[in-house]
Order: sequence, then structure tokens, then C-alpha cells
Amino acid sequence: MTPRKVILDCDPGQDDAVALFLAMSSPSELDILGITTVAGNVPLELTQRNARMICDIAGQSNLAVYAGCARPMQRDPITAEAIHGNTGIDGIDVFEPQTRLQEQHAVDFIIAALLAADEHSITLVATGPLTNIGTAIRQQPSILDSVEEIVLMGGTMREGGNRSPSAEFNILVDPDAADIVFKCGRPITAMGLDVSHKVLSTRKRVSRIEALGHPVAKATAGMLSFFHRHDSKKYGSEGTPLHDPCTVAYLLQPELFEFKECNVSVETESELTLGHTAVDFWHVTDRPLNCSWAYEVDADGFFELLTNRLARFANPA
Ligand code: RIB
Ligand code: CA
Repeated sequence: MTPRKVILDCDPGQDDAVALFLAMSSPSELDILGITTVAGNVPLELTQRNARMICDIAGQSNLAVYAGCARPMQRDPITAEAIHGNTGIDGIDVFEPQTRLQEQHAVDFIIAALLAADEHSITLVATGPLTNIGTAIRQQPSILDSVEEIVLMGGTMREGGNRSPSAEFNILVDPDAADIVFKCGRPITAMGLDVSHKVLSTRKRVSRIEALGHPVAKATAGMLSFFHRHDSKKYGSEGTPLHDPCTVAYLLQPELFEFKECNVSVETESELTLGHTAVDFWHVTDRPLNCSWAYEVDADGFFELLTNRLARFANPA
């Protein structure tokens, strides 16, 4: 089977980091053309550094990492150090990575890669605010011809908001970019809080990963042990929602999830509900069905997949 060409757009972030590990664990299924970083959980200079650290830990220092937009398209930046720590990746020791930062801006890389690609041949996987992707589409709409699918972590319906009462963080940070993406006309698969809040990194699940014993497993366990302290108090649950790896898990094992074709529209004006994703789950409007909205997930199956794939780092090729 030919591996699926992907560009991973992220704001590491512990959960982005685990999504990157999961993608890197599966080269026969996913051909990573590049990792593009964006301001989100922490400022861009940290998200790009963190992405490069993850490449080092995974023994993938050859991967191309790009820095993208340092602020949302129109709004003021919002960050999440309270959840991710000041480094953005608390739970592991920070170091200066070997993996180089590419000179090219992430938006220019996304545009160049898509303009050079065959029709519907590249999947964009977004686990942070959609600023890089929204900006690329705005600058060069013809890139959409080469987009096979956009798989994103973002939005919320039944779960309510995690950064405002009505909005999920990635969409709230850059609602204007999200609006561009949801209106772009290419297939979108959205992993919102409705599924990510069901994949909780409980102690038992984290211990199974830690027991793998190699550097990627230890880094994952360390990050998840830090990451959950905030969410456990907030949600009163054991373990933290493992948001971003849901995107890669869908690419590797789509049957773990259940979807419904819906319209998803983004609030870009109201200060009260800015970044809200209006998911027309019951088709009460005639708005176009622009999104496969994930609403159910096999949580045990998800962690089985994650643990088994992380085990592959035991004997790096
Ligand atoms: O709301 C969760 C999302 O916001 C995740 O992508 C997390 O990394 C943060 O970016
Ligand atoms: Ca993220």
C-alpha cells in the first residue's frame, strides 16, 4: 500500500507531540512531507523548537520542520501555558534539538508542496490553530486542488467549550482561519472535544506506555503525567483528554471512530461566542454538509493502537 502523503501542522503541546510520535511510528502508512508549526499553546519560537525536540527524541532528525505564523490572521494571540507549562512541553527536559529549522516559512512550504503535487494527493493534518492553513488558502486558493482531505483537531458540540464556554481552543485562537478552512470545499474530518474528551490518559494507560521503556515511551509518559494535572482538576476525571492523536489515529484506524456528515460553521464576530462551532448534527438547516464530524470513539482501541505503535520505537530502524 502506498503511504498517504501528509503535512502535519501543529502547536506542540504535549498532545501534539504524541500525535507526531504516532505519525512517525507508521512510515508504511504515512509519508510525512513536512511538519509545520504555528503559534498556539505557546508562542511560535517554542512550538517550532518543541516540534524539533520531538523529531530528535524519535530519531527522526531528518524530518523537515518549518516555522509558520506567529499570530492569528486578525485576532490577538491566545496561549495555554496554564495547561502545557511555560515550555509548552512540560514533562520532559528541554534541550537544543539537532533537527534543523527550515529557512522557508511554513505557509510558503504548504503552498509550494501543494502546487507541485498531483490532484487530491496530500492530506493536511492540523492539531493547532488553523492560521497556517487558512493563510495558505487565502494566499493561493488553487492549492486546494491537491488537498485530499483536511483532518483537524478542533471544535466542540455536546462537550461545550474548553477555553470559553462555547469554543474549543484551536478554533477560538483563530476563528477567521477556521472559517476559511471550513468553507474551503475540500473534505474535512473534524475530531472535536466530543471525541477527545473520551480518550483519557488514565494512570493505567500511561503506565502501559511507560513500561515500553524506550526514550519515546518515557517522553510520552512524562508529558502525559504533566498534561493531565490541570485537566483532571478541571473535569474531575482521571487522566487528560488526548486531543491531537485522534487525528492520526483516524488516519491509521478510521474504524475506531464514528462520524456524521454535518455542516460546521464558525462564529467569527460575536465576542460572547467567538470561535463557536455550530455543528448542524440533526440537519435542521440547509447548510452544506462540509464536515465528517466525529462523535464516538473506541477509547480502549485508541490506546491499544497508540501503545502498539509507540512500541515500534524500541528498535529504531
Ligand atoms: O482544545 C485542545 C487543543 O488545543 C489541542 O490541540 C491542544 O494541543 C491545544 O492546541
Ligand atoms: Ca495542539
